[in-house]
Amino acid sequence: MPTAAVFYLLLLLSVTAAGTTTVLSDIAALKALKSSINPTSIPSYTCLYSWDFTSDPCSPPHVTHFLCGLSCSGNRVTQLTLDPAGYSGTLSPLVSQLTQLITLDLSDNKFSGQIPGSIFTLPNLQTLILGSNSFSGVIPATISNLKKLQTLDISHNFLSGSLPDSLASLTELTRLDSSFNKLTGPIPKLPKNIIELALKGNSLSGYLQKESFTGLTQLEVVELSENSLAGTIPGWFFLMPSLQQVNLANNNFTGVEVFKPINSNLIAVDLGFNEIAGYPPANFSAYPLLASLTLSYNNLRGRIPGEYSKLNRLFLDGNFLIGLPSEFFSGEKTISGSLGDNCLKSCPASSELCFKKQKPWSVCKQAYHGKLELS
Ligand SMILES: *[C@@H]1O[C@H](CO)[C@@H](O)[C@H](O)[C@H]1NC(C)=O
Ligand SMILES: *[C@@H]1O[C@H](CO)[C@@H](O)[C@H](O)[C@H]1NC(C)=O
Repeated sequence: MPTAAVFYLLLLLSVTAAGTTTVLSDIAALKALKSSINPTSIPSYTCLYSWDFTSDPCSPPHVTHFLCGLSCSGNRVTQLTLDPAGYSGTLSPLVSQLTQLITLDLSDNKFSGQIPGSIFTLPNLQTLILGSNSFSGVIPATISNLKKLQTLDISHNFLSGSLPDSLASLTELTRLDSSFNKLTGPIPKLPKNIIELALKGNSLSGYLQKESFTGLTQLEVVELSENSLAGTIPGWFFLMPSLQQVNLANNNFTGVEVFKPINSNLIAVDLGFNEIAGYPPANFSAYPLLASLTLSYNNLRGRIPGEYSKLNRLFLDGNFLIGLPSEFFSGEKTISGSLGDNCLKSCPASSELCFKKQKPWSVCKQAYHGKLELS
């Protein structure tokens, strides 16, 4: 019978179509995500504006609907990368229904409120980028459930509390950026495969503890400037085997210990704007690749090590240094940087290094309790 044939044809078509249409729980999650965003922050040129649920999110062609912001694998959403349109609102906890999600990137928008705890249950998440929003609240210990997480960027938000100890169990994590938040407390034990660590511009306190950094054989970049870290920067720190760039500027460190390495990839070190007392550490010159050293605005005194003349960039301004070794101006090589605002009697004004003037002699004499030899 023809009607039966048509019926079976229709049934066949709908079954085929069902194979490619997005699973309902994913559609519900996308709807919830969109509806928790303030509609006035969704202008017509944006990805979210094109999310029109009269068509299917994962089924191509996306000529007018679901133009951007998500991608799918089969009938599941695997990536949510919203455009930086200034979307404001909260992040719906139903996003956790997108259980095949690999990438969630909402950066450069105005999401506020807490990061919903449910997203820390997403079993396949590898990349979580929530940077440059207005998220507040704490980073929960349950973040360690994201066993596949490789990249975590929660920088430029208003997150508070301390970094959870459970962070160490994120063994796939290679990049962590939680700079420019309101984080307090010490640096916890760090995940063992971390390559880039950026915690700049928080209120982290305490010492650089060996337990936090033990076994970090991949760590290349450490950006901890603008915190309240204190104590002596320990010698083992610069000996971490993959270390290339270190910025510990603008903290409350009072000393630095530098050991000679067997081998090292260290290229740049910035320890400026601390309260580091003592002599400038000559052992830095034993780091074969070190090209840039900044020790500006500390409490260093004594002579500048001649070995520093090997460097390309050297900032020692704002200390109480005396005695400039002849190596600095004898070679063909020109060093950029500054030696100004010290107690150098003989800094040649023709050199860029000496453009900034030295401290008044009376200040220097006082700093050396009147026992200042001429240099
Ligand atoms: C830490 O250093 C900052 C400047 O870098 C300073 O304002 C602050 O008073 C210092 N804190 C302590 C406890 O010394
Ligand atoms: C320089 O490094 C050597 C070898 O690591 C170490 O024994 C020595 O104490 C260091 N010097 C300073 C002043 O820290």
